[in-house]
Amino acid sequence: MHKLRLSILFALVACGCSAGCEHLTPPNNNNNNIDAGTLPPPPLANCGDGGFADMVVDGTDPNTVKMECKSTDYCDPYAIGYTPDPAVQQQVNLTMGSMSLSEKADQMRGTNPGGGSNYSDIFRTPDNANKGIRGFLFRDGPNGVNLAAQLPSGKKGYSTTFPVPMARGATFDMDLEYKVGQAIGDEVIASGNTMLLAPTVNILRHPAWGRAQETYGEDPFLLGRMGTAFVVGVQQFVPACVKHYAANNIENGRGSANAQMDEQTLREIYTRHFEMIIRDGGVACVMASYNLINGKKATQNKHLLTDILRDDFQFLGFVLSDWWAMPPGTANASSDALSANAAEAMGAGLDMELPWAYNYQQMEAITGPGKPVDEARVTQATRRILEQKYRFKIGKMGEPAGLRPAMTTLSSQNSIENNEGHIAIAHEAALKAITLLKNDSSTLPIKRGNVHTIAVIGAEVPYHVVNTDLANGTVKFYSDPRLGDLGSGRVFPDPAKSSGPLAGIKQIGGSGITVVSGANANLADNADFVVVVAGLTPEDEGEEYTGAGDRPNFSLDGKSGTNAQNNLIAAVAAKHKPMVVVLEGGSVIDMPWLSSVPAVVMAWYPGMDGGRALAELLFGDVNFSGKLPISWPKKWEDEPTFNAGTTTSMDYYLGYRHFDKKGIAPLFPFGHGLSYTTFEYSHLQVPCSTIDKNAVVNVQVDIKNTGTVKGEEVAFLFASYPGATARRPVKELKGFHRVSLEPGQIKRITFSLRVADLKYWDSASNSWKIDAGAVQLQVGPSAGNLPLKDSMTVN
Ligand code: BGC
Repeated sequence: MHKLRLSILFALVACGCSAGCEHLTPPNNNNNNIDAGTLPPPPLANCGDGGFADMVVDGTDPNTVKMECKSTDYCDPYAIGYTPDPAVQQQVNLTMGSMSLSEKADQMRGTNPGGGSNYSDIFRTPDNANKGIRGFLFRDGPNGVNLAAQLPSGKKGYSTTFPVPMARGATFDMDLEYKVGQAIGDEVIASGNTMLLAPTVNILRHPAWGRAQETYGEDPFLLGRMGTAFVVGVQQFVPACVKHYAANNIENGRGSANAQMDEQTLREIYTRHFEMIIRDGGVACVMASYNLINGKKATQNKHLLTDILRDDFQFLGFVLSDWWAMPPGTANASSDALSANAAEAMGAGLDMELPWAYNYQQMEAITGPGKPVDEARVTQATRRILEQKYRFKIGKMGEPAGLRPAMTTLSSQNSIENNEGHIAIAHEAALKAITLLKNDSSTLPIKRGNVHTIAVIGAEVPYHVVNTDLANGTVKFYSDPRLGDLGSGRVFPDPAKSSGPLAGIKQIGGSGITVVSGANANLADNADFVVVVAGLTPEDEGEEYTGAGDRPNFSLDGKSGTNAQNNLIAAVAAKHKPMVVVLEGGSVIDMPWLSSVPAVVMAWYPGMDGGRALAELLFGDVNFSGKLPISWPKKWEDEPTFNAGTTTSMDYYLGYRHFDKKGIAPLFPFGHGLSYTTFEYSHLQVPCSTIDKNAVVNVQVDIKNTGTVKGEEVAFLFASYPGATARRPVKELKGFHRVSLEPGQIKRITFSLRVADLKYWDSASNSWKIDAGAVQLQVGPSAGNLPLKDSMTVN
């Protein structure tokens, strides 16, 4: 009887927050003594009994009593949203009262009227000294603050270089992503800038996309959640601009690439995560992408920028264009053409053209009675822009910029200093991101007592890129810290504070181990363990303007076609020594040697302290816990057609949805990642028999560490719709959770599932729907292994 009552109480709590669930706000933390990156997460509201922290349990059956779950609040630290502050709006009104048309138009465009060829001033909008309004100072990007752009050549400007977002996707750790966001926001302020051009949340439709590394993976829910955590972090300091809206996932020919798709695909797959980052994350700005969608440039696409963004997602911030994403892309355009472009973009909902005052230089000429643009539209755009400037305290000349002062500082050499706290976050991210793909016969960890000489072998691969710093270089795979491509998101760390594989293995291996290194397979001869590091160069993948662009295949040396790295790995494998291959890159890499290599690690681009993190994982000082945020195919042909020329048809099914639908087994499923310990899942509790459409279902599951070492596990929750008549995926991700477990320990974790997140786009009625009927929930360690199942019924 007692047990039953407890269970009923538990079921009540698990069905959602208590009625008094408070509105969540970000911390109003003005305490300058707190190290940036360690600001607390936004507080959990009073959700049930202390929220849903992981709970240590004893493994007995919780005997959940299922009940009807009604409308409840969603209590989550990363769902703070954005509610305009009336005081800020009043400031906007005051400023705007006396602004001329031209002053308003200046808020809506970059510098350098008419464009031309001035590429040295492309990261700001003009100040208005008369009204005391500061222009924006923009910086990329997704894996740190790019301080190199616009510096005289040869000068780099160091800042903290985090693992790339694809790596951070592999952490499935929202608290960590929030800290990364905070740290980057801090460095934006420290470097005298006012807005961050990140996160990148384009769906990785195909692993060949040249900018795969910049996004968090292939799934809209994952991108929506990680992007939200990042934005909430950045926006403790400065506004963030989520990009590239939308369906920008082919790099070659990106300015004319047309993404063709039906409405359900556009809403559910290519824009749904932007909605999450808007509604939950309260993002200030959206960047319209280069490509066309269904025949219309994103920058001039009314359906995208107004119907979806404003009317459906209720976005209250402003929209800017990607750099030169407006037509016509040539300085010789006639003023008529520029005017027509500008009028169309204004009508569609583009508030700001960048980087130059190019088409929008025509604003004064095309605005007013009897002209294509109504002044009210110019006023609306200016109001949106000023509201975000004042919201983040970046809009007033002469005042310190940002919501709180930075903890890091900028040196006279234009480098970020005092960033030890941020490097610790970069290191933590690398530890949680690096993914163990294969580990036969417990080849890893490297056992210090038994191993005396380690060979760290990797090719030295030359690369050539254009329009960026370091046009020619060589990647020394055995020693270089790997940071990512050399496009707009390039970030350079202080070499003295960085570690590559060789330095990391030397430091972590300790004095009892001799380390030899280089590019020659014969170095393995006298070693008793071999680490081969291989991967992609900045020429193999990256932004189009660097000359890198998309990948023609998934092979190592896929562009040069030399096969040098595969040959090197095969030559080492032929020596039959204990060995691991460590791969570095933004997405899938083919492994023709897989069956002859006992252990494989995907290190992604692990950032400035990735070498040390890699070594700690290889020696088992820290356990692997990264999991794939993408499906890893057996071969190129198993993926959808990548780039079909000008127009590519983007199917509803991609990633695990595609593999499920086609019944093709991937090499490694979404969520795959090994550990030095093992985990057992039990006691899935879906506390609701029936749910209404506004309910929150707090699904719980027990996870036990059944091995002998400590570990962290990422658990996944997938939903499917067995009775659906509408087109739905076989299953879709609706929750993920990372938990830390001592050997033998069992913890009960909670996925808070909003039933509203199960919605699909019904093209017939042109609206979102949640059908009445069964929803099946499945929980487990990867998309390919979901042992626990239960269901509930939507009323
Ligand atoms: C990229 C954007 C970036 C912008 C400014 C463009 O090439 O696509 O991601 O924010 O440049 O650097």
